[in-house]
Amino acid sequence: MPKHVKELAVQGKQVFVRTDYNVPLDAEGNVTDDFRIRASLPTIEYLLDQGASVILASHLGRPKGAVIPEMSLAPIASRLAELVQAEVLFAPDSVGSEVETLAENLKPGQILVLENLRFHAAETQNDPEFSKKLATLADVFVNDAFGTAHRAHASNVGIVSHFEEKAAGFLLMKEIEFLVKTIESPARPFTVVMGGSKVSGKIDLLKRLADVADNILIGGGMAFTFLSAPPLNHNVGSSLVEEDRIQFASDVIDLCLAKGVNLVLPSDCIASREIKEDAQGQELPIRALEDDLMGLDIGHRTRKSFNSILDESKTVLWNGPMGVFEMTPFQEGTKAIAEKLCEITKKGTTTIVGGGDSAAALKKFKLDGCVTHTSTGGGASLELLSGIKLPAFEALKGAK
Ligand code: 3PG
Repeated sequence: MPKHVKELAVQGKQVFVRTDYNVPLDAEGNVTDDFRIRASLPTIEYLLDQGASVILASHLGRPKGAVIPEMSLAPIASRLAELVQAEVLFAPDSVGSEVETLAENLKPGQILVLENLRFHAAETQNDPEFSKKLATLADVFVNDAFGTAHRAHASNVGIVSHFEEKAAGFLLMKEIEFLVKTIESPARPFTVVMGGSKVSGKIDLLKRLADVADNILIGGGMAFTFLSAPPLNHNVGSSLVEEDRIQFASDVIDLCLAKGVNLVLPSDCIASREIKEDAQGQELPIRALEDDLMGLDIGHRTRKSFNSILDESKTVLWNGPMGVFEMTPFQEGTKAIAEKLCEITKKGTTTIVGGGDSAAALKKFKLDGCVTHTSTGGGASLELLSGIKLPAFEALKGAK
């Protein structure tokens, strides 16, 4: 394991902290979900308490090397200033002489937020010169950006070798320990609830889960690729089916059978001809889906069967919504699962939500905070749980 930030001597030092402040903003530039900003506070507050000054660096969106004012980190610095008891300064860039002067003059207890790293294409190119320039700003490096740990960029990989003193922050360490421990030694029964629209992107994860889970419950759009795959061969109307993933779905079904994993697919759904806020959803068994109908949420029978398995589970991992939860007619299946997770957490089940859309769903239903752990990383948690090493975490382990 790399060092934990608590193992570093930081008093009087300038500490460069890579955070993931890739957060949603509204049209006026206000932060609409500050979950990732709040999640970075333990590391920032710890460093300030130890007498360090903190330089925060993040990307926002994918500006691809262009300076796009709507992707400035300024609103994030303002939101952070409301959350911490410290002076927060904002730098107009992430490198260059002006930023260097601001960093040099930073006093213990102060924070400097750098402008969006991805305003320089060199960031995503992991450009050595750019890493070096970033590294000149500080004495110590801390990575706390779990959500970006699956990327190998200048600010989280290239930069590391320039520092003698480096460590993982509270968030990065907590995420890794939680997710790795869950998949390696879960309390059983271990149930995985998978959803979201697509099977693609979750192939490695599904293969790995078939090795470790006791139950795999599949809902969301991806369920229809499984339902239409041999040996099930259901007619699923015009529901989303990824033709090029049907063989893979069949393989997963076979794998689960061979390993004794209880794979459960929806038996009914909320169907409609249209995906829109005022659509009329009708509840139907899967076999009754007519050609022009799409399944857009799981039905009551499916919710009941998923929930009874969740009631018996000791560890639950949830990744992906059960339907188009952003729209009222198709939100109830996802809501039912979210509510069940909160209920069983109170009874002692460890419940982990794998970031991204599932975390957004918890927030929509005002249930955030009621599960054991909500990951701040969508892509990163998916890769880690799939058994893929995260380059930014691995880089922290290396010597200078
Ligand atoms: C995320 O939101 O998943 C991370 O911030 C990574 O963003 P990226 O997919 O643009 O690299």
